[in-house]
Amino acid sequence: MFQSPLSGVTDLVFRRLVRRYAPESMTYTEMVQASSLQHLKEVPQIMEVDPDEHPISIQLFDCRPDFLGEAAKLAVGQGSDTIDINMGCPVNKITRKGGGSSLLRQPDVAEAIVEAVANAVEVPVTVKTRIGWSDDEINILDFARRMQNAGAQMLTLHGRTRKQGYTGKARWDWIRRVKEVLEIPVIANGDINSVESAIRCLEETGADGVMCSRGTLGYPFLVGEIDRFLKTGEVTPPVTAIARLECAKEHLQELWEYKGERGIQQSRKHLAWYCKGFPGAGTLRDQLSRVESVASGCEIIDAAIDRLRESTRQRCVLSGDSTERDRAAFATCHD
Ligand SMILES: Cc1cc2nc3c(=O)[nH]c(=O)nc-3n(C[C@H](O)[C@H](O)[C@H](O)COP(=O)(O)O)c2cc1C
Repeated sequence: MFQSPLSGVTDLVFRRLVRRYAPESMTYTEMVQASSLQHLKEVPQIMEVDPDEHPISIQLFDCRPDFLGEAAKLAVGQGSDTIDINMGCPVNKITRKGGGSSLLRQPDVAEAIVEAVANAVEVPVTVKTRIGWSDDEINILDFARRMQNAGAQMLTLHGRTRKQGYTGKARWDWIRRVKEVLEIPVIANGDINSVESAIRCLEETGADGVMCSRGTLGYPFLVGEIDRFLKTGEVTPPVTAIARLECAKEHLQELWEYKGERGIQQSRKHLAWYCKGFPGAGTLRDQLSRVESVASGCEIIDAAIDRLRESTRQRCVLSGDSTERDRAAFATCHD
């Protein structure tokens, strides 16, 4: 199982939470611009990896093979088990400079990048990309073969075009076609938001694994749930709203400890993502989007937890449930 690279999200703190529930899964750092490392005296925090955080891949992006080769060496020194090259990012700022998904239109450069990185480091080089630039330019079959021939040892395929961005449905049919022609492992990505969608995707594509992305925002349990089902057939009971809010508090606390004030600012979007699918979630999201400190954030969340407990208790009392059933309800009612 794979937790995708997510810029602004998959820092060390988030990855620790994911790994707690999915200890054997592959996680990725946020994408790192290779050329930005050229004149740095210290390795930036974005490339920091826990000593016991394996398997882990540092994801790099850029358009210059020589910069990427040098950055890959640095990444391996940090403990990266593979080097992943981003060839899928749709953001203008990145594509205008020749990186991310614009490499789909420059397969020669993409090939040179994979070759340069494969020559620079001993660890496997992997590529994460999309099915093409637009509906009129779906070139993934040829592109994927070229990446394999250049030395890529795994391909993760997000089943959307660059033009789609993050809208519309991921085209798993293209993932199946790519899987049919490649010898290296193919990992399916796009719209894997539940155990059911993971199973369906694996059946429809024949892929060697699935990678979760937006489904993990405010829900770092997802990769673990899918991993557990695939390995044991066991279904994990839904995580209650209270458990999610407890996790949100921990996330806030750890971001503060790791990044200080910047961590508090970054925590706001995470906290908002945790507030989904329970009574009062909208109000809580609004309050947490302005959080200024760990203490105030935790106080707001604790008050919300108390309200959820109280409303569950009242519901149970009104329906004449016994104390024992109250306790069971506490564990399940909150979603
Ligand atoms: C906020 C955000 C940040 C992302 N950052 C990265 C990134 O750094 N590297 C990358 O390869 N993909 C990145 N992606 C793309 C995802 O990894 C994934 O390919 C995409 O969201 C499709 O999966 P989904 O439909 O399950 O969300 C990002 C996506 C989002 C929404």
